[in-house]
Amino acid sequence: VAVVGSSRPKPLPADTEARISEFADLVATAIAAATTRADLIASRARIVAAADDARRRIERDLHDGAQQRLVSLGLRLRMAEDVVPGELDELRKELSDVVSGLNQVGQELQEISRGIHPAILSRGGVAPALKALARRSAVPVTLDVAIERRLPDAVEITVYYVVAEALANAAKHAQASEVTVHARVTEAQLELSICDDGVGGVDPSKGSGLIGLKDRVEVIGGQLRITSTPEAGTSLRISIPLPC
Ligand SMILES: Nc1ncnc2c1ncn2[C@@H]1O[C@H](COP(=O)(O)OP(=O)(O)O)[C@@H](O)[C@H]1O
Ligand SMILES: [Mg+2]
Repeated sequence: VAVVGSSRPKPLPADTEARISEFADLVATAIAAATTRADLIASRARIVAAADDARRRIERDLHDGAQQRLVSLGLRLRMAEDVVPGELDELRKELSDVVSGLNQVGQELQEISRGIHPAILSRGGVAPALKALARRSAVPVTLDVAIERRLPDAVEITVYYVVAEALANAAKHAQASEVTVHARVTEAQLELSICDDGVGGVDPSKGSGLIGLKDRVEVIGGQLRITSTPEAGTSLRISIPLPC
C-alpha cells in the first residue's frame, strides 16, 4: 500500500499519479526479484539436503543389509569348509576360493558405500573422517585440524567432500609431492584450506568436481576461493558460517 499526500496547499502536479504508479511498478519488480532469489536459495539447499539424506540411507542400507549378509555367508562357508572330509580336497579348495571372492566383494561394497556416504563422518565427525581421507590419499598429506566439536550435518558433509575432491585432484592433476589441510572453527565460522605444491592451472569449467563443490559450499552460505599458479600450486580456501 502506498499512501501519498502533500503538506503544500497547492494541488499536486497533474502527472503525479502516473509517476507514482511507475515507481510502484519498480518497487514491485524489486520485491518479486528478492522473493524469487530467496526461494531459489531455499530450494537449492533442499535439493542438496535431499540428495545427502538419500546417500546416507543407501549407505546405511548397504551396511546393515548387504554387507552384513555377505559377512555371515562367508562365516558359514568357512564352517562348511572345516567339515569337508579329507578326501574332498578339491571341494575344500573351491569353498576357500569362494570365501576369498566373497571377502573381496565385501571390500568393494565397503569402498562403494564409503564413496556414497562416509559412515565414519556420521559416527565421529570431521576430524576422524579427514584422518581417514589423509591415510588413503595417494599424495602425502599434512593435517592440521582443530575441530573438537560436532558441526551441523550439512557443514560436516561439505567439508568432507571438499577435502576428498581436493586430494583426488592433487593426485590426479597436480603432480604434487605434498598437500596441506588446515581446518579450524572460530565462534562464527569454519575455515578450511587445502594447498598442494603442484603445477597449478585449475580450470573449473573443464570438469564437474570443483563446480559441484562451489554449489555445495554456497548452498550453506559459505564461500570457496581457488588460487592456482605454477609457482605456488593450488589452494582451495573455504569459509562457512556456523549457527551461534
Ligand atoms: N590441484 C590441481 N592441480 C592442477 N590442476 C588441477 C587441480 N585440480 C583441478 N585441476 C584442473 O582443473 C580441472 C577441473 O577440476 P575438477 O572440477 O575437479 O574436474 P575433474 O577432476 O573431474 O577433471 C581438472 O580437469 C584439471 O585440469
Ligand atoms: Mg576433480
